[in-house]
Amino acid sequence: MTTPSPGGTAVPADSSRSATFRVWRGDAQGGKLVDYTTTVTTGMVVLDAIHQIQADQANDLAVRWNCKAGKCGSCSAEVNGNPRLMCMTRLSDLPLEKPVTVEPMRSFPSIRDLVTDVSWNFRVKTQIEKFTPRAPDAPDGTWRMDQADVDRVQEFRKCIECFLCQDVCHVLRDHHLHEEFIGPRFLVHVAALEMHPLDTADRVAELKQAHGIGYCNITKCCTRVCPEHITITDNAIIPLKERVVDEFYDPLGRVVRLFSRSEK
Ligand code: SF4
Ligand code: SF4
Ligand code: FES
Repeated sequence: MTTPSPGGTAVPADSSRSATFRVWRGDAQGGKLVDYTTTVTTGMVVLDAIHQIQADQANDLAVRWNCKAGKCGSCSAEVNGNPRLMCMTRLSDLPLEKPVTVEPMRSFPSIRDLVTDVSWNFRVKTQIEKFTPRAPDAPDGTWRMDQADVDRVQEFRKCIECFLCQDVCHVLRDHHLHEEFIGPRFLVHVAALEMHPLDTADRVAELKQAHGIGYCNITKCCTRVCPEHITITDNAIIPLKERVVDEFYDPLGRVVRLFSRSEK
């Protein structure tokens, strides 16, 4: 009996083998890839191998993790060049005949080894206009909402803030426009607020002017790497872009909207 391994090396059940991990070691001043060979067994994920290397060969190897269940978003890294959660990347899905590279996310400054400084993301979040609910619909302080409107934003609330989408977005990764573009994760956040059936704030002007939505050219790289399978581009970014176009480049639509604000 073997463990299924789409695209990878079958690992026989209840057996072990050795594998080499090429891990980036260094800090903000620079670093290099270092090879570690360790024993791997059925069912292991990349984070298990990194922990084993840390325990047996490199006690000072820095790695951030918390839940080991794909829910805290802490263990983001680049495995064989692909942005992945280390705790959700099975070794049975990787080709173990050659070294598995494990590197930190490249869109954020290095702290040490696999740990990057993602604090920019939390500063960005504070700049987005907060949820502003309308007055309650009933005397008991409750609201009434259509289920379809609730369902539309539910997808966006699955975000675990792993920042893998930020890591892969070329506007941040290659062009370093962190001061001008909030990135896909926060466009999802704006969509969750802007499409919320109770929200009354208008974030369309800031989407264009402060949040840089125009930099997104809809390559969909962010959608492809999201571990929560949020349809970032089609369901969040494109509808927000349409709102910006309606507001700034469609004068007739603007007049119509003035008379139909309540449809938000
Ligand atoms: S679709 Fe837009 S936000 Fe997503 S990776 Fe491409 S440029 Fe970045
Ligand atoms: S949208 Fe997806 S990829 Fe981006 S931070 Fe949230 S969970 Fe991670
Ligand atoms: S350790 Fe929490 S998502 Fe990987």
